Amino acid sequence: MTAEAKTEHVTSDAVLRVEGLDAGYREVVVSGVDFSSNAGEIVVIVGVNGAGKSTILKAIMGEATVHAGHVFHRGEEITAQSADLLAQRGIGYVPQLNDVFPGLSVTENLRMGGYLLPRHLVHERTERCLERFPQLRAKHGSSAHKLSGGERKQLALARALMTEPTLILLDEPTSNLSPNVVEELLFVLVPALAAEGRSIVIVEQAVEAALSIADRACLVGNGRMLRSGDAKEMLEVVTSHGLLAESIGADVASPDPSVP
Ligand SMILES: Nc1ncnc2c1ncn2[C@@H]1O[C@H](COP(=O)(O)OP(=O)(O)O)[C@@H](O)[C@H]1O
Ligand SMILES: [Mg+2]
Repeated sequence: MTAEAKTEHVTSDAVLRVEGLDAGYREVVVSGVDFSSNAGEIVVIVGVNGAGKSTILKAIMGEATVHAGHVFHRGEEITAQSADLLAQRGIGYVPQLNDVFPGLSVTENLRMGGYLLPRHLVHERTERCLERFPQLRAKHGSSAHKLSGGERKQLALARALMTEPTLILLDEPTSNLSPNVVEELLFVLVPALAAEGRSIVIVEQAVEAALSIADRACLVGNGRMLRSGDAKEMLEVVTSHGLLAESIGADVASPDPSVP
């Protein structure tokens, strides 16, 4: 491989770097997505319903179509790779829906999360997950569909943690959870995962809470990435403009010279 060809695939040492991503299905849903996340950082993606937040995560995970742009993990291109390869690289993903196998027990769900691991590690990591989430240990034999919303989300996260990922993508982990569970998840669990040196990319509807724990933020709307930058700056903008995300999109987007 020539030096030139090599540098094409090597960018910075960010854990995740998304460059000029146009993502969608048959059609592009969201375009011009650029952001990166380093070890120990939390990046939040915000925007109204249907803006394409989940699509961005799915495109990173090879589940939605990448129409343009590149995704790099630790400097190596991972655009449109399979979920298995991404899991082996240390990328964990907790989707918005279908995040656990409802008919399987807690322990079986965890084992499924470790299906790519050697057998001895599956046992060790299952134990570690049950240690981290005592509520799950208490219900280790119960079917996932019998868990409360908060326990189910813990299980989804624990399942993703089985591979000890260095990058975790979380799609609206707090939706339909009670306020105290939301608080625990956003203010305790997610920061703890980042403090362990993991890079976290989170899509959240609890915009202010998510921005307050994040290092960086991306705002998507009107079919594109409107803005990205420091989360605290974005929080100030959001607080002063009110929380209606639609108007946030309209108000805080950098002026687009192509729009009269
Ligand atoms: N599998 C799919 N095929 C075609 N269009 C889809 C699919 N999933 C989502 N969409 C469309 O893509 C757009 C963005 O959806 P999504 O990424 O789920 O938004 P968000 O997560 O921001 O609410 C929506 O218009 C939605 O209808
Ligand atoms: Mg979504």
